[in-house]
Amino acid sequence: MAELFFNPLDPSYMADPHPHLGEMRDKMAVQQTLAGPWALFRYDDCFRLLRDTTLSVDVLKADERSRDRDRLIAELGLQDEVREDRSMLNVDPPDHTRLRRLVSKAFTPRVIEALRPRVQELVDEALDGLQTNGGGDVVDALAFPLPFDVISEMLGMPDADKVLIRDWSAAVVKTLDPVLSEDDLRTAIEASNNLRKHTKEVIEWKRSNPADDLLTALINAEEDGDRLTTEELGDQVNLLFVAGHETTVNLIGTGIYELLLNPEQLEAWRNDESMTANAVEELLRFVSPVQFSRRVTTTEVVYGDITIPNASFVLAGLASANRDPDFWGPTASELDLTRANASQHISFGSGAHYCLGASLAKLEAQVAIGSFVRRFPDAAVNRIEWNGRINLRGLDVLEVSL
Ligand code: HEM
Repeated sequence: MAELFFNPLDPSYMADPHPHLGEMRDKMAVQQTLAGPWALFRYDDCFRLLRDTTLSVDVLKADERSRDRDRLIAELGLQDEVREDRSMLNVDPPDHTRLRRLVSKAFTPRVIEALRPRVQELVDEALDGLQTNGGGDVVDALAFPLPFDVISEMLGMPDADKVLIRDWSAAVVKTLDPVLSEDDLRTAIEASNNLRKHTKEVIEWKRSNPADDLLTALINAEEDGDRLTTEELGDQVNLLFVAGHETTVNLIGTGIYELLLNPEQLEAWRNDESMTANAVEELLRFVSPVQFSRRVTTTEVVYGDITIPNASFVLAGLASANRDPDFWGPTASELDLTRANASQHISFGSGAHYCLGASLAKLEAQVAIGSFVRRFPDAAVNRIEWNGRINLRGLDVLEVSL
């Protein structure tokens, strides 16, 4: 039985996790992984987990056995260097409700739709650059800078050293992987402390340079004392900044790649612009830019004939759920931009923690991928490199010729 356990470290997993995820779904859909956390792989189970209001998202409520990362931190004696992130992603009501309310005004579909002209402008500039060079790396030219620049502008960040921040942020999100090496952990802790220090400096700078932006609005809430503490302010800013670009880059990069591998789908979209919204939903399902989310049990919970104990860290296998044939039918593993129920994917999670940036991510992908598809009918893939992440899986390099 041992070989049936979830093993994302298998060399074939990075190139294509779906054969292994499919095997887990069929044979061990509810399991405690060898690394410690529990994991669910079926659509119905993941959906139920995400929406179960008796569960927590607070990792501090999980016991040590199922918290692989914390066990490693303790073993390495790094406790003093780590401060738990108290962003809205990691806290329960009433803190979650308060924090989410403070930020959500900036992310309503109406506010986001107003960004469309600016997003189109940034996309056009990026595509002009690719065209001038007859091709190049789509991740470097478009998929990374677009979400990075948009969230930086929304927050009102100063023009900063992008490369450095990109590296820190990449190291930090690696800790979201279900399995973590000692090296990854050390690098992530250092990067996280650097990012925190940088954010603190930016907040200080913004205090004396207020503007009509999200960071100023959050600082005003913090100055109102009982609504946001200084530490909470830093953590929300980091979350928005990191979640704002580390995920959408995967949707745009891998989305374009998958389309280039499916030329007849690409052709259909190119000839019918009204397909755009549904095409992005289907790419979200197919790509799953975030492959796992998580919850912590606060009592025993039963899935089928398996009981998950209290205080367990449980992963919802979003990527696996998004290809579950029991939910999607026999075409689950095919890309079909006209799929009628594509928007039922759980790529943005579900329930109280449903992705706050979903409208923004969809807008960016619609404009970026839609414009690419229409503008470059002869695009072809030259070379790719996966980013080596199990959770925020995507391409580091997508070199194309036009
Ligand atoms: C394709 C792009 C994206 C994907 C796939 C994605 C996915 C997710 C997922 C899976 C969650 C956790 C949901 C849960 O556990 O139920 C989440 C939460 C969140 N996301 Fe996104 N995200 C994306 C883009 C963005 C963007 C652009 C932003 C903001 C600028 C953003 C901000 C957030 C925030 C603030 C949360 C925490 C919400 C809460 O805890 O209440 N995300 N996202």
